Amino acid sequence: MFTIQPTTHMFQETEALVLGLYHENKQHQPAYQQLNDALDGALDQYMQDGDLSNDYKKVSKVFTLNQTAAKRIYVVGLGKKKDLSLQKLKKAFGPLFKQLRQDRVSEVTCLLHTFQTDEISEEEASKAFSEAMIVAPYQFEHYKTSNEKPEQVIESIRILSDQGAGSISNALEEGVAVGHGVNTARHLVQTPGNLLTATDLAEYAMTLATTYDFETEILEKEDMERLGMGALLAVNQGSTEPPKMIVLKYQGKEQWDDVVGLVGKGITFDTGGYSIKPKDGIVGMKGDMGGAAAVLGAMDTIGRLKPKQNIVAVIPSTDNMISGAAFKPDDVITSLSGKTIEVLNTDAEGRLALADAITYAKHHKAEKIIDVATLTGGVVVALGDWVTGAMTNNDDLFTDLDQASKYTDEPIWQLPYNEIYRDQVRSSDVADLNNSPGRKGHAIMAGSFLAEFAESTPWVHLDIAGTSNPGTEYDLGPKGPTGVMARTLARYVLTR
Ligand code: BES
Ligand code: MN
Ligand code: ZN
Repeated sequence: MFTIQPTTHMFQETEALVLGLYHENKQHQPAYQQLNDALDGALDQYMQDGDLSNDYKKVSKVFTLNQTAAKRIYVVGLGKKKDLSLQKLKKAFGPLFKQLRQDRVSEVTCLLHTFQTDEISEEEASKAFSEAMIVAPYQFEHYKTSNEKPEQVIESIRILSDQGAGSISNALEEGVAVGHGVNTARHLVQTPGNLLTATDLAEYAMTLATTYDFETEILEKEDMERLGMGALLAVNQGSTEPPKMIVLKYQGKEQWDDVVGLVGKGITFDTGGYSIKPKDGIVGMKGDMGGAAAVLGAMDTIGRLKPKQNIVAVIPSTDNMISGAAFKPDDVITSLSGKTIEVLNTDAEGRLALADAITYAKHHKAEKIIDVATLTGGVVVALGDWVTGAMTNNDDLFTDLDQASKYTDEPIWQLPYNEIYRDQVRSSDVADLNNSPGRKGHAIMAGSFLAEFAESTPWVHLDIAGTSNPGTEYDLGPKGPTGVMARTLARYVLTR
């Protein structure tokens, strides 16, 4: 898909020549100058008339009327050079790729160095470029019978750069791998519950495993009964769909040590159970496997890039349904860890499923655990649609994850975890823990409950109930699931 050539090739034939333009003096941007000369000053003229802009995130299209070998020039406005960050650059590529898709462009030439600054290397710019190319124009599959054709995807990219082609092409591949991971997560979250049962999710994981040569272990209901996974089993009790505990192992080191556990909530539909959700709150609960999707998305990226790390992904999966057999408020259950749990609310099911998954990640020698879950409405009230809630029992691990999230521009914000909250999840009269101490601070209660299962293992919890599907279009993607945290998990693994 990519070819890399020196910048002297800028006057080759192409459907679309892409360059960046800063606010700073145009004279210091030679590519712009050269093109402007070739077009007899047309670019300057368009600038003056307001038809071409260097404002941040503006994309201007210039038709060249055969005066250059490029059919069209796409100018990406970058604003003031000193205000640009890598994260802002990536966002600026979003509108570009959406425009290219709309224009049905299949072949692009990019003047990479025009996006570079003192802070942003050409390698980093290429990574941002190729990731944006995969994630921004992404369109969800739908089930409409009218046969609208999906819009054109870009098939060939020529990158013009005077840097060493090796490092640029590695960076491009990394961006593509990250982008595909994000789209994998988005696709899974978008798929409705009837078409993505726990069995389907397990099959999807197996397909990834075959593609990337992961080791797999899928626990069936009988295995869970034998092992004593009473918490996950309780959530599944009202369902006719069998539960799955999905385990993928990626071994990138000689020895199976220093293992990172990625645990993702895989509730394929959450009715709330007998603590049933109101009719407005139940719509959208096909997305209650967003954590599982983020983990599988990250595994997709990891499988492509093969870092020297050991990863175990653990996904507890079931729907949360009602029937004569379903679990009920007041039930007391025994988790895999041996700890007993009083169920006060069957809608606090995610923490039950995750409890057994976190314990099981430790059985697989996870020495650090990151869980991702659409866990609480409370986190949405606290932080809104674009910031993920985080909790931890280990500041070092949190700092590492925070760094990764700043790089990927998937912001996280730490919520407190301390003795006050610990006491409340341990406040049951009849069991070791209770799964729902009440409405107050319930995002924190949920995380504090999970901490009881991480115990002394360094752990970070990411509550993506808001960020998994904000329901609006944005620069780097369409309206719908964002695939949030697929990037950040992958980045953490690639850089630790
Ligand atoms: N899956 C929900 C949380 C959720 C809410 C995800 C909105 C996405 C959007 C979770 O299982 C749940 O029901 N949480 C309850 C917890 C309560 C019973 C303590 C909630 O947030 O109300
Ligand atoms: Mn629930
Ligand atoms: Zn849920």
